[in-house]
Amino acid sequence: MNISILTGGGDCPGLNAVIRAVVRRARISYNWDVIGIRNGWKGLIEGEVEPLTMYAVSGILHRGGTILGTSRKNPTKSDDDIEQVRDNIRRYDIHAILAVGGNDTLSSALFFHKKGVPIVGVPKTIDNDILGTDFTFGFNTAVSIVTEAIDRLHTTAESHHRIMVVEVMGRHSGWIAVMSGIAGGADMILIPEVPFDIKKVCDKLMKRHERKKFSIVVVAEGAKPVGEDKHFTQDDKVDEFGNIRLGGIGQVVADQIEDITGIETRTTMLGHVQRGGVPSAYDRVLATRFGVAAVDAVNNKDFGKMVALRSENIITIPLEEAVLANKEVDMELYEMAEIFFG
Ligand code: F6P
Repeated sequence: MNISILTGGGDCPGLNAVIRAVVRRARISYNWDVIGIRNGWKGLIEGEVEPLTMYAVSGILHRGGTILGTSRKNPTKSDDDIEQVRDNIRRYDIHAILAVGGNDTLSSALFFHKKGVPIVGVPKTIDNDILGTDFTFGFNTAVSIVTEAIDRLHTTAESHHRIMVVEVMGRHSGWIAVMSGIAGGADMILIPEVPFDIKKVCDKLMKRHERKKFSIVVVAEGAKPVGEDKHFTQDDKVDEFGNIRLGGIGQVVADQIEDITGIETRTTMLGHVQRGGVPSAYDRVLATRFGVAAVDAVNNKDFGKMVALRSENIITIPLEEAVLANKEVDMELYEMAEIFFG
């Protein structure tokens, strides 16, 4: 039996831990061969595959990124690409596909599952915005990186009596902003789920300034002001999948805060620093559990499913449920964070 694995979408710490776990579970427990598909769905269209031996995955547990490479290619957009995927599944004698990715990658997995391809999904994203799983791996690492950045910004903000705006990732959901904001003691957190009123934000910051002469504002890249339905973007560039490229709302917010409050305000955009580097211990363990469970799902012929963390257990849920929508920030958590605003 040959199973294959691909990693699609934005990279994320823990992907290599999944790949290693899949190969070891498949080889040791089932004596199956594992085929690595390069660069996400693109590799399956173009026939870029390689055998993944135990030797190939040795020593990669702690490494960030993905040894397989990734892309944001949507394989379902053209009939030619769909046909190529089918041809390559036959050509390389692939009996099952493990698709590791976020909402875009998992939607494509569902598409091919409906066409009869045996597929199991593994949820991955630093954004933690996939429905049906308590957490995705990569999120814990990203939150630690942002928290450390907020800690560093605190000391310089305090010394210079400035407002520091930190822009973090989070296209549809503000999980990274909320969790790192709580952990880092942010004085304001702006997220996509809750449109912000800049005047109210400034009122809170000015009130705080009577007491404390500095503030930290965390802004998720997908945050929008009240009444605006489009994301702020610096240009109209889109990624390969068709998602508009975000980034820059932090600077807009900082400029408005400085204008309204008269307090010097600086911006830090953390960008891809949040996605790079070694995974945390938590993410290594979660990724390993997902990898092992995904191979077991293939053994159980549990196709069209995604492995997921529910309480302390790893379960499988229908891919349909996972890709229905983006998992939004728990409003109870956000309301709790608000206690510390201003
Ligand atoms: O992985 C999801 C994500 O982190 C989003 O929050 C962000 O908009 C996007 O990736 C950026 O990805 P890229 O590296 O393709 O610009």
